[in-house]
Amino acid sequence: MAHEVTLIPGDGIGPEVTQACLRVLEATGVALAWEEVPAGEVGLAKEGALLPPRAFESIRRTKVALKGPVGTPVGGGHRSVNVTLRQTLDLYACLRPVRSLPGVTSRYGDVDLVVVRENTEGLYSGIEHTVVEGVTESLKIVTARCSTRIAKFAFDHARRNGRKKVTAVHKANIMKVTDGLFLRCAREVREAYPEIEYEELIIDNCAMQMVLRPQRFDVLVMDNLYGDILSDLAAGLVGGLGVVPGANIGEAGAVFEPVHGTAPDIAGKGLANPTALLLSATLMLDHLGERDAAARVRRAIDRVLGAGEVRTGDLGGKSSTAEYTDALVAAVRAG
Ligand code: NAI
Repeated sequence: MAHEVTLIPGDGIGPEVTQACLRVLEATGVALAWEEVPAGEVGLAKEGALLPPRAFESIRRTKVALKGPVGTPVGGGHRSVNVTLRQTLDLYACLRPVRSLPGVTSRYGDVDLVVVRENTEGLYSGIEHTVVEGVTESLKIVTARCSTRIAKFAFDHARRNGRKKVTAVHKANIMKVTDGLFLRCAREVREAYPEIEYEELIIDNCAMQMVLRPQRFDVLVMDNLYGDILSDLAAGLVGGLGVVPGANIGEAGAVFEPVHGTAPDIAGKGLANPTALLLSATLMLDHLGERDAAARVRRAIDRVLGAGEVRTGDLGGKSSTAEYTDALVAAVRAG
């Protein structure tokens, strides 16, 4: 039976990279039944809402979505599609695998780590106020429930993917109560995963180590703010946001999407690089249990980029989206 998946092409380069991605996925032979729905500026124009109800209902039903970038109009009080999806579906784990791609310019050739970020609380709970004029306060919420489930997610991810180590990142030397609770939960969870090495690192040291010796890391788990910053830092190690995938996962569903935006400067010109969306789609294939197909797509990307002949402008090449996609389709078919 085909896997039902909600497809949100999104805005700007979204439709172009989505089309490219569908062609490559089709070449894998995996049966995917797409339900395409609008969201973002295209949703607002066509159906009067950034996230039209039928887009949301579709994800609720299929529980899996592949999503291109969406634009949020500045002003007008619109709530971002990404934040709405994350909060309403309780997509509590943000997964960012960061891996060096052959032939992509970067100082580091052998990075292969995964940042697991808690997506629902911490300093991003949005509980802020002015105490008196000139004095403000922002509350950092850390609960045992959310800390335990994110630690469990990280260890499960490590186990399922044959990874060896989980690093819990914190600042419990200063925030003894909140980050202290986060660490206590992680320590409790790790008891059930004796085969996986566990370590704890203070966030500032972790940032330095990541730049000095990123190869020492495997899976990292951390709260919302630390994860926001360190996942972008890690992306920078392998060539930037244009080549890293992402996923937001919860019990009610999972949304797979690239980290980059709608790239209005190149939209509609056939120049966009679909690699980040395609790598996000490989995470989706893993999630659906189609691990062989996911591995084939990753190998195809490595082979085409490694050969160095066909690549898009953002990676220093001259190829169009279509030419790059043709090469990927051929590489997937070749196995
Ligand atoms: P951006 O990521 O769209 O663009 C930054 C630069 O990277 C541009 O020069 C662009 O051409 C290039 N770039 C990005 N993705 C590329 C790709 N796949 N291939 C080739 N080049 C690529 O960031 P920006 O300009 O800050 O945001 C533009 C719009 O995207 C905004 O409306 C923002 O709200 C939205 N956005 C949406 C996101 C999402 O839906 N997940 C995430 C980030 C931004």
